[in-house]
Amino acid sequence: MRRIIAPSILSADFGHLDRAVRMLDRSSAEWVHVDVMDGVFVPNISFGFPVLKAVRKATRKLLDVHLMIVEPERYVQRFAQAGADMVTFHLEACADPARCIALIRASGARVGITIKPATPVETVRKWLQIVDMVLIMSVEPGFGGQRFIPESLDKIRALRRMAADSNPALLVEVDGGITLQNAREIFDAGADVLVAGSTVFGAEDPETAIYDLLHI
Ligand code: DX5
Ligand code: ZN
Repeated sequence: MRRIIAPSILSADFGHLDRAVRMLDRSSAEWVHVDVMDGVFVPNISFGFPVLKAVRKATRKLLDVHLMIVEPERYVQRFAQAGADMVTFHLEACADPARCIALIRASGARVGITIKPATPVETVRKWLQIVDMVLIMSVEPGFGGQRFIPESLDKIRALRRMAADSNPALLVEVDGGITLQNAREIFDAGADVLVAGSTVFGAEDPETAIYDLLHI
């Protein structure tokens, strides 16, 4: 079983982003999670291409870009050009997921799809064979520091079962409210990748927090 920690730089100190990303580069995190918000799909605005390019320069780790934007198909290729290795978009935000998936593929990046807590996990079924990852949102997208929604565990288990035949290599990522207290349960439910914002950047020693999440 794979275990990957993807710290979310949304919770980093943006005044010292370079320092935060270099710390992640030294840490046992395999991925760096980058939350892009447009103020329309979610009631918050984070950052875009120039910041992603700066992050790209500061790390060799896999850049895992989570797009919380409407009409993602308009921008996915630019995110790949700016340095994203994995581009994940919300099914709720996209009228034509097949096209969006194809555009990401054509850009050379890996493809992820994601759903909000209220969206049934069944929604992802028809795309499972043509994506690399499904991200289960375990909080309402838009803000770090929220509580993990416990019903997400059933969605993770259902997704694992669903993917067992159609795409056993599928990565299952979980994002929102992950702590040292619940990480093991989430891995055990079938997650491969855990995103963690406040648990990492709110810790006195973020590198140790990453290590502890990984070896929980
Ligand atoms: C929320 C973002 C998350 C967020 C997680 O919209 O997608 O990646 O940064 O933060 P924590 O780990 O604090 O819940
Ligand atoms: Zn995220």
